[in-house]
Amino acid sequence: MTSGMAVQLQNKVALVTGAGRGIGVGIANVLASRGAAVAVCDIDGAAAQETADAINAAGGKAVGGAVDVTDSDSLDHFAGRTISELGGIDICVPNAGVIGGRGFAERVDFTKEDWDLTFAVNVQGLTNTTDAVKEHMKAREEGKIVVIASHGGRKPRGVGDKGRGNAQHPYLVSKAAAIQYTHLLAMELGSYNINVNAVCPGRLWTPMWQAIAQNHKDLNPDYSEMTTYEIFIDQIKKTMPLGRPQTPEDIGKTVAFLSSDDAAEITGQAINVNGGAAFD
Ligand SMILES: NC(=O)c1ccc[n+]([C@@H]2O[C@H](COP(=O)([O-])OP(=O)(O)OC[C@H]3O[C@@H](n4cnc5c(N)ncnc54)[C@H](O)[C@@H]3O)[C@@H](O)[C@H]2O)c1
Repeated sequence: MTSGMAVQLQNKVALVTGAGRGIGVGIANVLASRGAAVAVCDIDGAAAQETADAINAAGGKAVGGAVDVTDSDSLDHFAGRTISELGGIDICVPNAGVIGGRGFAERVDFTKEDWDLTFAVNVQGLTNTTDAVKEHMKAREEGKIVVIASHGGRKPRGVGDKGRGNAQHPYLVSKAAAIQYTHLLAMELGSYNINVNAVCPGRLWTPMWQAIAQNHKDLNPDYSEMTTYEIFIDQIKKTMPLGRPQTPEDIGKTVAFLSSDDAAEITGQAINVNGGAAFD
């Protein structure tokens, strides 16, 4: 028998969306390292397959597939495939998200396209994902749902941009919706022994934050001479007591905990993994 950590999620099956890059890859890797079989999907099916291939090559068990979370049929199909190929779904991690519509990084204000796409993916895509697993979990009277929200979905806070416009309004409102949905789903599914929680990441240097940093650079003259990575680090130093970025694995470890028996009495919570940047 391997270490306690390795058996934390032994015999569990996890479905993770948006696992072709960024945080989703870290979540899939950590869950697999704790013994779970993982079904990873992404709108970029080839990228999801690469995540699955790497897990299989490392001795884990994974399947990959193309899923657009805005399309409930494609999610239902992937959930069905997961159940038939891996034996069920114990853990569901709606992680896929977008910061805005196409060209967001070049915009100084949000557009209708930003509202439409962020709500289609971050809100409707989230509910499509939980809908695809909910009845299966209810029938088994067991399940863990861990929503990837954001600390930006809590109270608004300006960060060094002197109150200037911030093109992230659609994103931040969509993440507030994700937190509220987590609370509602926890109430709805609690009597079926299904735990529903959210993880609120802080700042990670993924393609998503690269777009945010470009947007800050364009918006704020104070940032015009800095590289996008310097802007990212500057915001971390100004806001995070721990003073360092989070990693996809940091988020994955909290997802693993919330998916484990150790978290059996935790539901309806939104846990910040943000180096202390926000306390509420
Ligand atoms: N990076 C951060 O600092 C940060 C902070 C807080 C919260 N988050 C949240 O974490 C999650 C992952 O973010 P990330 O930084 O890894 O972003 P990312 O942009 O690097 O990766 C997002 C992934 O989601 C996929 N995706 C996008 N639209 C999709 C769709 N319609 N269907 C299926 N897959 C789709 C993309 O192809 C990509 O692989 C998101 O929900 C994001 O809002 C990120």
